[in-house]
Amino acid sequence: MHIGSLINGIEVRGEGREEHEIRSPYNGEVVGVVEYGTREDIEQAVQTAYRVFHETMKKMPAYRRSEILRKAADSLEAQAEDFARLLMAEAGKPIRDARGEVGRAIQVIRFASEEAKANDGELIKMDSAIGGENRIGFAKRYPVGVVAAITPFNFPLNLVLHKLATAFAAGCTVVLKPAEKTPLSAMKLARLLEEAGYPKGALNVVNGTGVDLVEPLVTHPLVKKVTFTGSGPVGWKIKEMAGPRKVTLELGSNSPNLIFNDANLDIAVESILKGGFTFAGQACISVQRVYVQKDVYQPLLDRLVPKVASLRIGDPALESTDIGPMITEQAAIRAEEWIREAASEGATILVGGERNGNIVSPTIITDTKHHMKVVCQEVFAPLITVIPFETEEEVIAAANDSDYGLQAGVFTSDINRAFRIAELLETGGVWINEVSTVRTDHIPYGGVKLSGLGKEGVKYAIEDMTETKFIGVRLL
Ligand code: SIN
Repeated sequence: MHIGSLINGIEVRGEGREEHEIRSPYNGEVVGVVEYGTREDIEQAVQTAYRVFHETMKKMPAYRRSEILRKAADSLEAQAEDFARLLMAEAGKPIRDARGEVGRAIQVIRFASEEAKANDGELIKMDSAIGGENRIGFAKRYPVGVVAAITPFNFPLNLVLHKLATAFAAGCTVVLKPAEKTPLSAMKLARLLEEAGYPKGALNVVNGTGVDLVEPLVTHPLVKKVTFTGSGPVGWKIKEMAGPRKVTLELGSNSPNLIFNDANLDIAVESILKGGFTFAGQACISVQRVYVQKDVYQPLLDRLVPKVASLRIGDPALESTDIGPMITEQAAIRAEEWIREAASEGATILVGGERNGNIVSPTIITDTKHHMKVVCQEVFAPLITVIPFETEEEVIAAANDSDYGLQAGVFTSDINRAFRIAELLETGGVWINEVSTVRTDHIPYGGVKLSGLGKEGVKYAIEDMTETKFIGVRLL
């Protein structure tokens, strides 16, 4: 694939735009070429999105938006394997995980198609206020207008759709800046959405680096909402830049998962195995800190360590591969350095801890201290720390002792304890008998503390792409 940017339905290329190769994170093979857009492209894209919002999208009936989304979902279903292979090639995602992502993406569009037709407001019981007698009031939702969407490499299709499908369902137009490493699937998706009936210019894609494009995009006066998924420092900087615009930030975490002595250990082990190592741990909700009650600490490790040691590392194209490369060698080197640093301060590496190019072997670390980066920062790598605890109070305090708060997992067969803890954990979501890494695409998803601002999850993202207007009638 050789791609440029997509503005008003036309792919803009050439005219001095810089070419950059997209290489497989696994073997360095060139899988495509992208031409970087410019500040002028951002200007054109935003102007187009603004015009198309006022001329077309604002007037498009909900049934039509829903229909187009349904068609897009059908089309993605028909091309699922092509998309999965592209995700595998550009992100290095093991093919089974890539197929899983496409499956989720299809559901996201289907949910958005349904939500496009859902209620867009509520009737207010006006006479509950003194002076509200003989009045009828509505709180009605209206699309905000132009949405700036900035997306990460780790779910290059599904996290893009969490923004594009929801914006369309709400009646908004979009300028998307996809991750630099994974623009190919975003562009293929944009073409699919246009073929399904997105009006030209309702979705514009400008490719390039965050450094060049984010500031002109999020500060543009015609942009009304900014939605970003990615790293914390970039996200909070975007919020500052965005000023009065609505902002949604989906950022990182060092997700805690609590295993009590009455937990089903087999289920806990299987869940941690999947939740800590899928896509080499490159998910914001990946299992990172595993707190295990003292009497089941060793039994849990006895079951988990051999399973982690036998995860199959290698070519993401192989059906058998569990762990592929990290997105860049730099990311892998950072993970390796954090592991070494922890080990030099007394932590024990029970399994893994090695790096070969972009690949970090799946790693379990114990005997950690709270200040170690592998505990208190977001590792975003195939690495978990396992930490013993004695009491419920102690583990709640430890889990909450974090700058982050996205999702958490609690494993116990005591329903009272489960709910007690769910109430006390400072995270945007809590799973009982399931790991933090699980996300179905219709749940409210978004963190507290430094993990973010606002919620995604189809219905919630759509709400955030609208403004509520009050309309009242005095009956005469
Ligand atoms: C994320 O890493 O931000 C999203 C994880 C997911 O959607 O599963």
